[in-house]
Amino acid sequence: MTTWDDVATRDVPLASLTTYKLGGSARYLAIPEREQELVRIVGLLRDDPLPVAVLGRGSNVLISDRGFDGLVIRLGRGFSWVSVGETVSAGSATPLPLLARTAARAGRTGLEFYVGIPGSVGGALTMNAGCHGSDTKDVLVTASVLDLSDAAALDLSYRHSNLGPLQVVLQAEFATEPADAADCERRIREITRWRKAHQPGGVLNAGSVFKNPPGDSAGRLIDQAGLKGLIVGGARVSPMHANFIEAGRGATALDVYRLIRTVQARMEERGISLEPEVRFLGSFED
Ligand code: EPU
Repeated sequence: MTTWDDVATRDVPLASLTTYKLGGSARYLAIPEREQELVRIVGLLRDDPLPVAVLGRGSNVLISDRGFDGLVIRLGRGFSWVSVGETVSAGSATPLPLLARTAARAGRTGLEFYVGIPGSVGGALTMNAGCHGSDTKDVLVTASVLDLSDAAALDLSYRHSNLGPLQVVLQAEFATEPADAADCERRIREITRWRKAHQPGGVLNAGSVFKNPPGDSAGRLIDQAGLKGLIVGGARVSPMHANFIEAGRGATALDVYRLIRTVQARMEERGISLEPEVRFLGSFED
């Protein structure tokens, strides 16, 4: 009989799979390379349920220092591919900057904004990722999704773990228009330059921490509240952009988590509710 040790690796540190480079280990990590392997995992979930989390490129997630006591699924390189035609299709694990550059080089416009988002195609669909006035819903045509919660017994695990229904994106198809490749590549350079000028680079972070309140900017509001540079342990509200939290030397995931909650509380005192955009994985509270 197949067991978790046949399809996944036990006690794997997850920090290196995230942009924060923080957090503990997964009880199991599975890196399927093909849909068939993923289907096998779904089958095993039915027989031997575990809490499950799907990790993309880890650019919008904070993993607890205590890790995640369940199965983390990260789609392997077999799910990273781009196919350019009138639409552009890509596997779930494809890095968004690679998708943007491949489409631009082939003279298909519409996906340039993805060059500024260090996530994956699957992550983009999960978060409706966007920047520079475009987001995923504007360009998505179709997606193929495997529903892990189809495994009847998964109910058992999420009653105990509070996990919602889990869906794994397998691939997606995006709308594009024909254009001059040089123009597309120029747009890509503009976006890259804009990011360097406006967002912190060279420091560990996970992009915007909070969602923007309707019609406003979390960064502007946190800045206005004087919270730039606020420190908890090794974590700091970026002096460059107040909606970014940087993890410095010696930072723990708990430092980042506490700083997020501190900023949230300080903003709440001013009557402003901010909802984290970063996803939390594992437990942070006692
Ligand atoms: N601002 C300040 N102080 C700050 C930061 C920003 O006054 O510390 C002001 C800016 O001057 C600007 C306004 O706030 O007038 C908006 O800032 P910005 O243009 O940087 O955009 P944002 O709303 O903070 C959003 C996305 C980013 C995306 C940029 C560019 C969200 C939560 N963030 O940021 O996405 O890159 O627009 O399109 O929607 C991400 O989601 O992780 C992310 C980085």
